[in-house]
Amino acid sequence: MGKKITILNGSPRKNGNTAMLCDAFTEGAGSAGHRVTRFDLGHLQIHGCLGCMKGGKNPEAPCVQKDDMLQIYPAYREADIVVLASPLYYWSFSAQLKAAFDRLFAVAELDPNYANPKKDCVLLMAAEGDTLDNWKPALDYYESLLRFLGWRDLGRVLAGGVLEAGAVAGKPVLEEARKLGTALAD
Ligand SMILES: Cc1cc2nc3c(=O)[nH]c(=O)nc-3n(C[C@H](O)[C@H](O)[C@H](O)COP(=O)(O)O)c2cc1C
Repeated sequence: MGKKITILNGSPRKNGNTAMLCDAFTEGAGSAGHRVTRFDLGHLQIHGCLGCMKGGKNPEAPCVQKDDMLQIYPAYREADIVVLASPLYYWSFSAQLKAAFDRLFAVAELDPNYANPKKDCVLLMAAEGDTLDNWKPALDYYESLLRFLGWRDLGRVLAGGVLEAGAVAGKPVLEEARKLGTALAD
């Protein structure tokens, strides 16, 4: 049957390292029979959350803002697995990914208790630095986010030491991303 996977790719670089991690992961997941939908957030019109607390009325379009999040909401609601993919920007997720994630609050607003839907999650990231210290703030955030949401981590692939777009080509982390996609349980 396969899982439904939604990738939120927060890198604006079309042929960047995060995109290549997404490609490798998608190839693996596809070969294992999973269905992957990917959103390249940097090429969509996605505004920041207004904090108006007026969403959650229409399941198809739960936010008051009618921008490209309308494409993402149905995929997100159906997804078994959400992949958060991002370059490391100032030791955090990119603004593109954070903006989209904040807007998912409108889906929680569909629930009377603001409960976020439960998902499994994967993290794919690329960065110039390649030390544990460099990754730590983003990993701390990822772990806290999942703990607060009650989501389950299915794995992370961190491509360090890559600055230029495409620098990840030929590196073993791409195989790691592919294998993570292949190894997802049905
Ligand atoms: C605005 C900006 C902030 C960045 N901040 C960091 C950082 O905090 N740590 C780091 O190791 N690399 C940092 N980088 C480098 C990127 O993470 C690196 O180039 C990565 O490969 C980009 O991924 P992409 O090719 O998918 O866009 C930064 C790059 C930019 C443009």
